[in-house]
Amino acid sequence: MKTAFEILKQANDEHFALGAFNCANIETLKAITQAAANLKAPVILEASDGEINYMGYEQMVSLKRIYEKQVGIPIILNLDHGKDFDSCKRAIEAGFDYVHLDGGKMEFEDNVAMATEVVKLAHEHGIPVEGEMDHIEGSSADHTTEDPKNLQNEKLFTDPDRAEEFVRRTGIDVFASFIGNLHGLYADQKHLKMDLLTKIKEKLPNTWLSLHGGSGTDSNDVVNAIKLGIVKVNVNSELRIAFKMTLQEVLNASDEIAVYKIMDKPIKEVQRVVEGKIKLFGTAGKAA
Ligand code: 13P
Repeated sequence: MKTAFEILKQANDEHFALGAFNCANIETLKAITQAAANLKAPVILEASDGEINYMGYEQMVSLKRIYEKQVGIPIILNLDHGKDFDSCKRAIEAGFDYVHLDGGKMEFEDNVAMATEVVKLAHEHGIPVEGEMDHIEGSSADHTTEDPKNLQNEKLFTDPDRAEEFVRRTGIDVFASFIGNLHGLYADQKHLKMDLLTKIKEKLPNTWLSLHGGSGTDSNDVVNAIKLGIVKVNVNSELRIAFKMTLQEVLNASDEIAVYKIMDKPIKEVQRVVEGKIKLFGTAGKAA
């Protein structure tokens, strides 16, 4: 099976983006891996500190390996928004394939120091590190009463020169850019600042770029961002909502108490969302 480094390189060379799908239960895991298998698409399966605390580090690693073997498609397991060195170390030592250190709320120098340490450890284990220096606003939830523009303060977006310094001093492999992307679903589709993405890529020609906040983002913007160099798009809220809403409908319509018997619909609905994203990101067939 290809490594995370090899798949990121393939995405960069062939201009597609890996969907990075959050997962905090076995149903979502099944939906993501089934979508990947159906479309022969490599995927990133990811979990934040909170999601992993629920699932378990070793459990996530074992499940990922079992499903990867079963479907025969590369599945990269990522720690999403690891909050500090210890969190990344825990994931690396448990067998994760990729870690994201979210230093977005740290002082720049502290973030540089911590990211440098994470890179050292991760590279000893042969896995890539994603770094973040601007706090990407929002949360993976339903904010559909809010206007996304209220959170899109351009003064807080990525400064390309600072991004160049951050990457040069830390040695991170993937940079999480803040170009108008927000976590969560809002009243309007989110739009991205393409000219800023172009400038970031010019400053970082040899660094892979990621896009957080993949839910509810204008599809044309996503496709154009991938053309400009985004190789990873994170998606969480749309999966959470698909799962919860469908489960709620099924529960309201059924007296069944053997819960495994009612999980088929929520799984299928999450799978449908994941397949749509995989097609949009141009990843279908890339594991063939
Ligand atoms: P969304 O919740 O907007 O899909 O963002 C997910 C994300 O970026 C996880 O890191």
